[in-house]
Amino acid sequence: MSEEPIFSVRNLRIEYRTGAGRTVEAIRGVDFDLHANQSLALVGESGCGKSTLGLGLLRLLPRLGRVSSGEITYRHRDGETVDVLKLRSTALRRWRWGEVAMVFQGAMNSFNPVMRISDQFADTMRAHAPSGKRYSRKEIVERASEVLRSVRLEPGRVLPSYPHELSGGMRQRVLIALALLLKPQVLVLDEPTTALDLLTQRAIVDMLHTLRAELGFAMIFVSHDLPLASELADRVATMYAGRVIESGGVGDVFSTPRHPYTSGLIRAVPPVRAGSAEPESIPGAPPDLAGLPSGCAFRPRCRHAVEDCEQTDPVLELVASRADGLAHEAACLRWESIAEQEKEAVS
Ligand SMILES: Nc1ncnc2c1ncn2[C@@H]1O[C@H](COP(=O)(O)OP(=O)(O)OP(=O)(O)O)[C@@H](O)[C@H]1O
Ligand SMILES: [Mg+2]
Repeated sequence: MSEEPIFSVRNLRIEYRTGAGRTVEAIRGVDFDLHANQSLALVGESGCGKSTLGLGLLRLLPRLGRVSSGEITYRHRDGETVDVLKLRSTALRRWRWGEVAMVFQGAMNSFNPVMRISDQFADTMRAHAPSGKRYSRKEIVERASEVLRSVRLEPGRVLPSYPHELSGGMRQRVLIALALLLKPQVLVLDEPTTALDLLTQRAIVDMLHTLRAELGFAMIFVSHDLPLASELADRVATMYAGRVIESGGVGDVFSTPRHPYTSGLIRAVPPVRAGSAEPESIPGAPPDLAGLPSGCAFRPRCRHAVEDCEQTDPVLELVASRADGLAHEAACLRWESIAEQEKEAVS
């Protein structure tokens, strides 16, 4: 991929204070690039750090969390780059939403229940207006109507409503519309379809596909749902205990996973058709971040672990390069020797 990335994340570390002067490291050295129009899925079990990474990218960590080291560089459409970790309050507020917008995990409950949808749009637009700009009611309604139509909602019905008057699927569409309000280059979505029924999930996924084709934004989204991730992403990163342990093009990672954890996640997906292989769970549970095992963090649950895995903490290494730039990388000492067994296990 020749063009410079929009986001470059280097050796990012994020920690949470847990009381009595103790901290846990929830993100333990993450690197990735996101290019224009690319869609990256973050997958992994609960607690592996997906939301923390998303929030950290936007500098929206809760009070007890902080980026302890690393770099986040963002490139504007005109090519100018900014050091996200150095942005100060006003610049940060404009950058957020204007350039990079996020739909939070569980955000469906985060509407102000006593505010009409039109006012939620007005607030967002006013809070993120360029300096000196005062949006008129008319401008707000026009822009809000435009984005609501783009998420297939009827502005006349939605704008005067209160959140409780809308269905879950409609609320999720409104949140996506709010995120797209200021034409960001990047949309970060944390579990965009989790609380929705299957048909509504499908409608949201189809809509995100169309929106991306129409508006051309890049996307980072978190999902527990591997089939959904494979449909919506170009690239996938599997996370485990605060690190990316495998990443690559969606086709490569899901058809030939090179990390036993990724193949474990794939085998745990319930079959769509009767008669397919039964899902297999991964034995054990993710490790406690405050007391990680030596060597590879996945070792205690890994059916391929050998003595070396206890000594060496593996780093991402290239397992296949691709002309389209979606290099396939995995952090497993044994990826080559277990490749055949893993391929069979997921086929
Ligand atoms: N506010 C917090 N204070 C202390 N620790 C936290 C806080 N938020 C998250 N953590 C810890 O950071 C780790 C990563 O949590 P995070 O919420 O990012 O995981 P996740 O991958 O998004 O999980 P899920 O799939 O359940 O949403 C977990 O071990 C969690 O306990
Ligand atoms: Mg989360």
